Amino acid sequence: MAFQKIGILSIGEMGYHWARLLKEHGVEVMTSSRGRSEVTQKRADNAGVPSVPLSTLVSEADLIVSIVVPSAARKVASQVARALSKAGRKDCLYLDANAISPMTADAVSQSLSQAQASFVDGCIIGSATKLQEATVYVSGSRAEELRGLRDSGFSVEVLGPTTGQASAFKIVYAGLTKGLQALLTELLLGARKFDLLQEIMRRYEESFPGLVSKVGRGISALPIHAGRRAEEMRELRATFRHHGLKAVMAPATQKILEEIAALDSGKASEKGGREGELLEALELFFQRGLLQERN
Ligand SMILES: NC(=O)c1ccc[n+]([C@@H]2O[C@H](COP(=O)([O-])OP(=O)(O)OC[C@H]3O[C@@H](n4cnc5c(N)ncnc54)[C@H](OP(=O)(O)O)[C@@H]3O)[C@@H](O)[C@H]2O)c1
Repeated sequence: MAFQKIGILSIGEMGYHWARLLKEHGVEVMTSSRGRSEVTQKRADNAGVPSVPLSTLVSEADLIVSIVVPSAARKVASQVARALSKAGRKDCLYLDANAISPMTADAVSQSLSQAQASFVDGCIIGSATKLQEATVYVSGSRAEELRGLRDSGFSVEVLGPTTGQASAFKIVYAGLTKGLQALLTELLLGARKFDLLQEIMRRYEESFPGLVSKVGRGISALPIHAGRRAEEMRELRATFRHHGLKAVMAPATQKILEEIAALDSGKASEKGGREGELLEALELFFQRGLLQERN
């Protein structure tokens, strides 16, 4: 079944591109941006998405999609659950599309079930700026219904009937992309220090064709997204710990990403776009002293 009206919380980079794709396919999109930053409110305006009170959004939307940062996933779900209870609505479908641990997904699911809403665990693999090439993976008892998003240009894959499958899938995938970004950033900063940047990039390209440009695209977005990606590594680490596994790479990745976030060197785009090139980002990190020992 195609969705007619979708509420997106919030219009960040990914939310902006979701909104645009949905609107292109005739879906009515709304958000509730009260209390959000100026850039998020401007992105909503630029995408032509009206901001309504949360009580209106939860009463009217066929589907509510949470696309925030991992650390906000529970809070947003509790706010929606409270608003649903207040509105007396019982049939609501809620998709969490964040990179969260299966434990966080369970907590989100529980708070929504208290409001008799149905939770679908989800994740997005692919870039917001190339959303038509991305895939939305979902799991849970009502996950099949999310196939309705295919009518709006999304690629949707159902992983199974259980909450936690989609979040576990994403968390392990995120470990690879963010791990590669952290490793390559560290090594290229070393090469920059020895004045060997171009030479080593050429050599990497010969040995691993396409790797540097692919991973480099992710690195060039780190000035804006390092903080959110560090949160994903925290979720990965917690997931492994919960299941008796020790993650060694994820904490190191998290540390580099947190150090990049602390440089505070990126400005989020009001149009959901990304600027910057790999070499530009690396030079910025280098000049700001990333990973340099202080005596
Ligand atoms: N960007 C991508 O290419 C990409 C790719 C795959 C998956 N994803 C997933 O998409 C999600 C969002 O990523 P993004 O790149 O769009 O991040 P983003 O650009 O940082 O946007 C996050 C949005 O969430 C809002 N937010 C933060 N805390 C909130 C809260 N407590 N209540 C309501 N809204 C809140 C932010 O508003 P403020 O501006 O007010 O903080 C902002 O609008 C992540 O979970 C990520 O895993 C993104």
